[in-house]
Amino acid sequence: MRIFASLSLAVLALASVTAISAPAQVAQTPPMGWNSWNYFAGKVTDKDIRASADQIVATGMKDAGYIYVNIDDTWEGQRDANGVLHSNDKFPDMKALADYVHSKGLKIGIYSSPGPKTCAGYEASYGHEEQDAQLYASWGIDYLKYDLCSFIGDVMVKQAPNDKAEQMRIMIAAYDKMGKALKAAGHPIVYSFCQYGWDSVWEWAPGIGGNLWRTTGDIYPAWDRIYTILEQQTGLNTYAGPGHWNDPDMLEVGNGKLSLAENRAHFSMWAMLAAPLLAGNDLPHMKPEIKSILTNRDVIAIDQDPLGKQARHAYSTGEVEVWTRELKDGAVAIAILNVGSDLYSTHPFRVALNALGLTGLQQATNLWTGEKTVLSNGMAIEIPSHDVLLLRIDQPNRPQIKQIKMVGEKPSPATQK
Ligand code: GLA
Repeated sequence: MRIFASLSLAVLALASVTAISAPAQVAQTPPMGWNSWNYFAGKVTDKDIRASADQIVATGMKDAGYIYVNIDDTWEGQRDANGVLHSNDKFPDMKALADYVHSKGLKIGIYSSPGPKTCAGYEASYGHEEQDAQLYASWGIDYLKYDLCSFIGDVMVKQAPNDKAEQMRIMIAAYDKMGKALKAAGHPIVYSFCQYGWDSVWEWAPGIGGNLWRTTGDIYPAWDRIYTILEQQTGLNTYAGPGHWNDPDMLEVGNGKLSLAENRAHFSMWAMLAAPLLAGNDLPHMKPEIKSILTNRDVIAIDQDPLGKQARHAYSTGEVEVWTRELKDGAVAIAILNVGSDLYSTHPFRVALNALGLTGLQQATNLWTGEKTVLSNGMAIEIPSHDVLLLRIDQPNRPQIKQIKMVGEKPSPATQK
């Protein structure tokens, strides 16, 4: 009895040591939440952040998985005589704001740049990396977006005017420096690189602690831009996985003049890409149809699939693209996207299931209508312009792999007939 008690004490002690020393695992699935930039840009205030946090809870977005409430650029004020950064008048008390967001069961994110100034010309972290990382930790910040901006002209180009390779090394060192400062500050934090995909960031970001990295320039709410960004993701699928994700930029769902089909297609394709799902719309005035896109749990489940395998662009026929994604337990997601501007540009579209490694009939679920459907090779499919057919096949039929008999091998009893 006594031996048992002391044994369990030892196990408990060991468990608590492990709990203290194990590094916090963040972003095991692509981060989900909301960011202020795409809708509010430079006008964002403390009040907008609180109202957005309230809405994330009230609309059911929190229950659907949206957790991070991220303040983008323009919160920064001036540094005091000790170099400590203060927020500006739009954000009177960052600690109180962080506490408010946390009180809703949400997490809070912030924004800075490795250069002297942010993209919008506000104070940034150059020369104050450790100090800023500690400040964020003292506020309880859970996510940092670190945006290259003025570091290009003020540091990279100045230090190595005619040497692009050296400029890239300087850039990587700056991201590494902030990564180390964040780690030393001791508060678990998602580290998001924003340097527009330069120098094949997907190859080096995970090695220096990047949890996600922008793969392109900025998104804006127009179909052509969303489509251009989508095309730039081709071939990047092998770089994504638990803890480290390609970031094709934040969502524009519900912004600008995107049609309902375009909003649906944008959301579907970002889920296929295992992209971070950071909504960027005006939550207090969100229309019901936009809410139902952002909270479609079946589509979110594709994005958040624990395998973390990003979709690949399987093939295109005319203006219709087919993307596939492997999911947990052998399931498959297929997105068939009509990128053309009219329905008849690629009509009829016949899906080549055999080109996707599938054979025979496939029982699929349409993730936007919930309908069950049976797919067959070459079947004709109607997809309106800029719309998507998003399917999940839980038990795909695949070709039987024939056993190759080795020379001299006796047939096994099961194959003897
Ligand atoms: C850059 C980024 C955007 C946004 C703005 C803020 O353009 O790519 O996502 O953060 O800066 O100034």
